[in-house]
Amino acid sequence: MPERTPYIAGNWKMFKTIAEARAFAKDFRPRAEGVEGVDVGLCVPFTALAATVEECDGSGIKVCAQNMHYEPEGAYTGEVSPPMLTELGVNGVVLGHSERRQYFGETDRALQDKVPAALAAGLEPILCVGESEEEREEGETERRLRHQVQEALEKVDAADLGKVVIAYEPIWAIGTGKVATSEQAQDAIAFIRALVGDRSKEAAEVVRVLYGGSMKPDNAAEILAQPDVDGGLVGGASLDPESFAAIVRAAVNAK
Ligand code: PGA
Repeated sequence: MPERTPYIAGNWKMFKTIAEARAFAKDFRPRAEGVEGVDVGLCVPFTALAATVEECDGSGIKVCAQNMHYEPEGAYTGEVSPPMLTELGVNGVVLGHSERRQYFGETDRALQDKVPAALAAGLEPILCVGESEEEREEGETERRLRHQVQEALEKVDAADLGKVVIAYEPIWAIGTGKVATSEQAQDAIAFIRALVGDRSKEAAEVVRVLYGGSMKPDNAAEILAQPDVDGGLVGGASLDPESFAAIVRAAVNAK
């Protein structure tokens, strides 16, 4: 079995000005620099990307955007394109976060173009999928995940599937303090890996699937110890350098 490097990515959402991002990076960088065997990333607002890239330069910390358009340019007011991100030295991009699906009309159809566009630009996509509370209660979790994963990855060549990072984020666990059990996370993530395996067995072994939803320093270790869980997409707990660093340390210890 090929080794998958665990990945802990902080999703700042609409938090932190440029000054706040710089202050975070200055505090966090020395905590992350000694870390080996775990990838660390910060997904920051567009306005703070350049400053965060500058502060993290040479540290190995990846800097990611939280959304992007799939076209390289065009009449799309308010949107940001892949080359605009790569020009800044950005490494990756969160795509299809449930908050974008819920509040801003992000669709699986658009993601079908965004995921390959990110890969073509050399940006590592972090594709978010996950069921609502109602879907889980009705036993619809797997159907929902199958739909989201298959749709979003439809136009990605089988040979490139392993380059996509997938984040399993049950909507009921995001920002609620209600974390999935390690068994729920393991089951859903193993199911997502099997979906990738339907397209390519090789990709299924290397694709990294993260857990997201109320991951904190005190619950990270148990979730990260699950065999199919390759890391975490961390919202609230990534806003503080000490708590985010504690989750990174948990990932180091878990593998
Ligand atoms: P949370 O957010 O850790 O604050 O629940 C996770 C996410 O939305 O990526």
